Parts: sequence; C-alpha cells; structure tokens
Amino acid sequence: MAGSVAIDESTIFETPLVELVLDLECDATVLGKVEWFNLVGTPHGGGSVKSRIAKGMLDAAEDAGELDPDTVLIEPTSGNTGSEIARLATARGYEVEIVMPDNSAGGKIEAVRDAGATIEFVPGDLGYDAVLDRCEEIIAAAPERYHRLNQYENPANPGTHERTTAPEIYEATDGAVSHFIAGVGTGGTVTGTGRGLHHRDESIAVSGFEPAEPLHAIDGLKYLKSGNHYHPGIYDERVLDEKRYVDTQDAYDRARELRSRYQHRMISCVDSGQHDPTVVRDHLRVDDQFLVGTSSGAGVQVVYDLDAAGALDDGDVVVLMLCDRGDKYADIPLWAAYFDD
Ligand SMILES: Cc1ncc(COP(=O)(O)O)c(C=O)c1O
Repeated sequence: MAGSVAIDESTIFETPLVELVLDLECDATVLGKVEWFNLVGTPHGGGSVKSRIAKGMLDAAEDAGELDPDTVLIEPTSGNTGSEIARLATARGYEVEIVMPDNSAGGKIEAVRDAGATIEFVPGDLGYDAVLDRCEEIIAAAPERYHRLNQYENPANPGTHERTTAPEIYEATDGAVSHFIAGVGTGGTVTGTGRGLHHRDESIAVSGFEPAEPLHAIDGLKYLKSGNHYHPGIYDERVLDEKRYVDTQDAYDRARELRSRYQHRMISCVDSGQHDPTVVRDHLRVDDQFLVGTSSGAGVQVVYDLDAAGALDDGDVVVLMLCDRGDKYADIPLWAAYFDD
C-alpha cells in the first residue's frame, strides 16, 4: 500500500540500560531503560516504548484470526502508539487510520504521516476523552471495516511488557532491581512489567505515576485522578506498591537535568541489550541524544520524591522507563527554552 516501508521487527525489545547519576540523599543506583532503541536503524528512525505493544497487539490479533487483508486498523492516540501501529501495520500491508488531538506534538503527527497512515484530528481543547469518543463514532458508522487494537483494553498490552520488559530488566540487573518506576498512559507498562517483576521477586517495589493536573503537558500520560475520566481496563492498580503524582513543570525541569548530565558525561551504558555495545556507546557520545520526552523527566522526579520520602536505601537499584525522545516535541511551547539553550 502507499507509504508502506519494510520494517525489521527483530530490532524491537532488549533495549539498553543506562546509569543516570542523580543528586540523591542515599547511595542508590538509578538505571534508565532507553526505549527509543526499539526499531533503531529502521526507516524513519527509532521508536518508543510503544513499539513493543504495537508488535504484541498486532501479533495477538493476527494469531487470533481477527485481521484480514481488507481490515482497516483504527486507534485513538496522542501519538506514540499511533506511529508505532502505523509503521508496523502498514509494513504488514494493512491500511491504518489514527484519531488524534490536533494539538499533538508535530513530530508525532509527522511520524504517523511518514508511516503512511491517515489522521482524523479532534480539537485538542475538548480533552483526550473526546478523541476516544470520536474513534468509537467512526467505528460505529462502519463496524465491518474497522478493527481497533485498543491499547486501553487489550491484554496483549500489559502481556507484552510482562513477557519482554520485565525479564529484560531482571536479567540485565542480575536480579538486583529493587524498584521499578513507570508513568501511566494506558497503564500497560507499569501493570505488565510490575507483574513480571513481582512474579520473579515479590519484594520489588513498583511505583506508578500520573499527571497531577488535568490540563498537563506530560505527553503520553493520562490524567485519571477524578472519577469523571475514562479508566483504562488493563491498568491494574493492585500491581502498584505506591502511586505518585507529578507536576508538568517538574517533569520538564528533570528532562532538562538529564540532558545536562548527559552533556557532562554522567550517563553511561550498563547493558546494551540486543545492540552492539559500541553502537550504544557511540549513541551516548553524539550531541543531544539525551533529549528525553517529558514522561522520562517525570520518572526522574519520582526518583527524587522517593528519595526525599526515605523510601530508597543505599545499595538499591532503581529502574525507570525512558519512554521516548524529546526532539519530537520541539514545537511545544514549554520545550522552546530547552531547544534555545
Ligand atoms: C512517552 C510516553 N510515556 C509513557 C507512556 C505510558 O505508557 P503506558 O501506556 O504503558 O502506561 C506513554 C504512553 O503512550 C508514552 O507515549
């Protein structure tokens, strides 16, 4: 189909772990899982944490016989899931439609378009639930045409993390991981990885974090605090040992802090995953490779919050997800100063 480009799916999973040297009260080790190494080296560049579930959900749907060559895949998303479903599904020969807010980051809109998917925009000021509603409306008008993988309700979302992210973290740390931290969009990462880690060691503390404000700018995360908002079915809060809330400004400030630590060579690779160690080291040497997205900055804020609350000890090994890169957010006003530095 038009726009589809062959994709090497074997470059998904087994992402590197890097050490982030932070100013903590205690002597804990903090490791970031660099998710933009998913699909690195494939056309249109590296992916994000969502490359994992795009593959997991597509495989599950195909295995269950739910897709045929004429199926149109439709998904409501603020970007990362859309671009990853678009890249993988168009490469497998499907047509893809993405429903997204019109104020989504320019880099994410481009990524969906580059993959050859079509986009239905919903006014961003209506809030994210309006995007979900619009998607359901489109499906209701032609149910036989569409298949929604539905990252919010699909057990293959947490299931993929339980099967891949959890063992990767456990094995790369030789079982030393003591804390796992992930933000909540669908809740798939924290639910699945948390389950997989607990299955190996019940004592690993799993922290989920959500945006503190409804009108936040932590891309990829969903505000869930008030009961008026749709709660993803696959987000199982029983897996969490604790939940934290992060302000947008703190998330941006911590993303900037990571960039500066990177520039001062305070970030180093501890496990290269499926990648050649020299490739990861070279990546860490090139300028501005540590422009992390805001949800990664929010994760760093949670590490500081846990430390300040006395929840971390000397010798602990904390792993947090670095879900995507920040350069795709260049056109968002809060990032402007970041790019002018
Ligand atoms: C950049 C980013 N961070 C974090 C998340 C949250 O991940 P999950 O949906 O697995 O909760 C997402 C989800 O879209 C994301 O795009």
